[in-house]
Amino acid sequence: MNIGKDIKKAAKELENSEIVAIPTETVYGLAASAFDSKAILKVFKAKNRPKFDPLIVHVKNIDELKKIAFCSPKEIEIINTFSPGALTYLLEKKDNIDDLITAGSNKVAVRIPRHKLTQELLSIINFPLVAPSANPFGYVSPSKAQHVLESLGDKVSYIIDGEDCEHGLESTIISFNTQEKVINIHRLGAITIEELEEKTGYDIRLSINNNSNPQAPGMLDKHYSPRCKLLEYKSNIDTSNSVVIWFGKDHPKNKRLYNLSEGQNFEEAAKNLFTLLRNLDKDGETEAFVKLLPNIGLGRAINDRLKRAMA
Ligand code: TXA
Ligand code: MG
Repeated sequence: MNIGKDIKKAAKELENSEIVAIPTETVYGLAASAFDSKAILKVFKAKNRPKFDPLIVHVKNIDELKKIAFCSPKEIEIINTFSPGALTYLLEKKDNIDDLITAGSNKVAVRIPRHKLTQELLSIINFPLVAPSANPFGYVSPSKAQHVLESLGDKVSYIIDGEDCEHGLESTIISFNTQEKVINIHRLGAITIEELEEKTGYDIRLSINNNSNPQAPGMLDKHYSPRCKLLEYKSNIDTSNSVVIWFGKDHPKNKRLYNLSEGQNFEEAAKNLFTLLRNLDKDGETEAFVKLLPNIGLGRAINDRLKRAMA
């Protein structure tokens, strides 16, 4: 079985232009060397991902980040506050980053992941890793090695098994305007608006694209979708014979109820989200009603994913 914790084997595959699934604290990624266009093309192909959707580059630390992107001392200060971690930065790219990675943009998305096994991998290879989430394009992201095995198992050379992802939700993508002390959020994710505000003192602005030919192209309206059709739960709709996805204890007495978190814990709900959506398909459900979460903290990012899954 091509799944395990053999970091040296993973490194060898990557050096040979192959693609490898890697664990991060957010979701699993489908990795290739960022300096190997042949391998990068394999990533697009395996995911069936359109080329207009750019890739995040994963580096070991700030020194490595500086080799592929320009950033000012102020930006480095902020990056230091959140790294390694679940935040991705849009920065002006250097020439060693191919247009294939950025979909022609002069900005590259960079992330310093914290997961121990991926940190180990990044220390023994001498190139950064492009890694989109390791799911077929448009389908639900993977938060367990098993998820990768199920939907891309025959397309990757190796899967590094790093157990369940700690957050279970993708990184938050931001860009900065350090002069005006503004952080723009391009994708809601595991790091909340509240945390960004508190740790930087910056103004946080949402600049999230919602159309079908967007500037941050991953943000298509419809994304993260199980085959099961999802509809928004409203208290005036009779859902007694339907499948319901809930958050909290006060749920209706449905036979087929999927709970993101009985105790209304946002972290727990984030961790359960993608497994729950995948379970709908495994259980053969064809339609489910979703109760959205309170729109605060991680609830915002979870609602964002649920709404895109419903679109
Ligand atoms: O948590 C994560 O970010 C995971 C793990 C594996 O790191 N990765 C991930 O990658 O979610 P992906 O490809 O599924 O989503 C990345 C999104 C793209 O769809 C796009 O919206 C945005 O990041 N992005 C990447 N590069 C960009 C760029 N140069 N300019 C604007 N947006 C970019
Ligand atoms: Mg993705």
